[in-house]
Amino acid sequence: MLPPRRVTNAELAAELAGRGIETSDEWIVARTGIHARHFAAPDVCASDLAAQAARHALEAAGRRADEIDLIIVATSTPDMVFPSTACIVQQKLGVQGSAAFDLQAVCSGFVYGLTVADSMIRSGAATRALVIGAEVFSRILDFNDRGTCVLFGDGAGAVVLEASEVPGILATDLHADGRHVDILCVPGTVSGGKVIGDPLLKMDGQAVFKLAVGVLESAARTVLAKAGRHDADIDWLIPHQANIRIMQGTARKLKLPLEKLVVTVDEHGNTSAASIPLALDTAVRSGRIRAGDTLMLEGVGGGFTWGAVLLDF
Ligand code: UT7
Repeated sequence: MLPPRRVTNAELAAELAGRGIETSDEWIVARTGIHARHFAAPDVCASDLAAQAARHALEAAGRRADEIDLIIVATSTPDMVFPSTACIVQQKLGVQGSAAFDLQAVCSGFVYGLTVADSMIRSGAATRALVIGAEVFSRILDFNDRGTCVLFGDGAGAVVLEASEVPGILATDLHADGRHVDILCVPGTVSGGKVIGDPLLKMDGQAVFKLAVGVLESAARTVLAKAGRHDADIDWLIPHQANIRIMQGTARKLKLPLEKLVVTVDEHGNTSAASIPLALDTAVRSGRIRAGDTLMLEGVGGGFTWGAVLLDF
């Protein structure tokens, strides 16, 4: 689910020029592969996008909201400090009683969320889950920092997960390395009724880039080994959509032809926790991904966090 306002690189460059910030379509495309992103209207929150994505996922799965007993919203841009965006989504879906919580793992949030939901279903703690990635990153961008504000966009994607005799999720692998807290962060907080520190996104792009390239390959190899599968078994690679160069590098390391790489970063920008479910949704609805295909989902981002989920669709 993408908010309707599509902003091209040229439009964003013109807007930034008004602030004395220089950028260009050429620079953004060459360094990232991004051509456009979507920005939510000022009165639209993460829960609005999440609830719409959830309705689409329920419809695709042929399920009703009252059949869900677990709602996980992966987000770094929640509506409020509390309650969780997941509780607000539950209210917007017009149901009550299910477990509902937010999961904060920045751009790895969706693979973290899938892993938690899978574990809860396998343990019997839940029977049917909505896992949603939803973000309004436009709210935390510093439009005076050309190194970050051209990269991100808003959106939400969702899946319904339930127990089945047929797998499903084959293997998962999650990690974090808190030594790298500072390379991608929003360092502000709320205290005494005031925002303390800086509430806008900061990123050391090159440090994130270098770490991402290494961990995406290792997480992919780990889930393949856990599931007893091989590179060649992957039908579709759906990595976090941050930078086409990182994504293509990962595909090459896994010896996958680039046709097996699902790319939406060109049209969505980096939508953090929403990027993987949005890419999955796009590829499924276009008919590229079919029942039985083997998918490798991979998240990486602030924390520093990363992880992978291998599944048969
Ligand atoms: O979602 C979590 C995961 N995030 C990521 O995976 C992001 C990882 N990092 C990246 O994708 C890349 O590092 C960036 C796209 C953020 C930056 O690309 P880069 O090739 O690492 O560029 P850079 O930061 O080294 O900057 C190169 C030059 C600099 O100018 P000088 O110092 O060489 O004169 C920057 O000031 O490009 C300049 N620059 C820009 N120029 C035009 C930085 N941003 C812009 C811009 N327009 N928007």
